Amino acid sequence: MIVKTTEFVISAVKPAQYPDDALPEFALAGRSNVGKSSLINCLIRRKNLARTSSKPGKTQTINFYKINDALYFADVPGYGFAKVPKSVRNAWGKMMETYLSKRDELKAVIQVVDLRHPPSNDDYNMYQYLKHFGIPTIVVATKADKISKGQWQKHLKVIREGLELQKGDPLICFSSETGQGRDEVWREITQRMEE
Ligand code: GTP
Ligand code: MG
Repeated sequence: MIVKTTEFVISAVKPAQYPDDALPEFALAGRSNVGKSSLINCLIRRKNLARTSSKPGKTQTINFYKINDALYFADVPGYGFAKVPKSVRNAWGKMMETYLSKRDELKAVIQVVDLRHPPSNDDYNMYQYLKHFGIPTIVVATKADKISKGQWQKHLKVIREGLELQKGDPLICFSSETGQGRDEVWREITQRMEE
């Protein structure tokens, strides 16, 4: 996809604030600090549209980015950040459940995991939660630049097995640093825009 226009639309906490122009939408899910915002920036080839930060767990809202007046990326707060208080975690759970269960425009979730490590319990639970809601999931294993190419297949296998990845859900080896996997992710997105 050739990205011509990108626009930060809204930082939402409740459904009334979600965009209402019915464009297909793709949400980014993943552990705090795994590289979700970086992945959005890499896909759209902008340095800093989606806010990246070295402070995990800072974003507690759903940030909507409109691309080419054709689709939205919804950057949702990361999970599994131990230092946030329980009340915040409960609020996160409620917001995510509302979003995932009611958002008709949601075509797929892009679940981002770290290629270097086996999936965490939170990664596993998130993936199974998405399957529970019947949401198509594109799993992206990022930070591939941090390990040698010869290790990629072995690590991908650990992730596929650790998540119990279902048939039909792709697993893409990715790096926001090098752009590795960018075309493949776009291919998966554009395929699902019409569905
Ligand atoms: P939260 O919004 O806190 O949930 O984090 P996030 O998942 O959006 O992570 P973010 O994109 O802010 O990236 C976190 C850190 O990882 C930043 O310092 C990024 O520069 C770094 N990072 C992200 N992707 C990659 C990658 O593919 N390779 C390398 N080497 N570093 C990356
Ligand atoms: Mg982020």
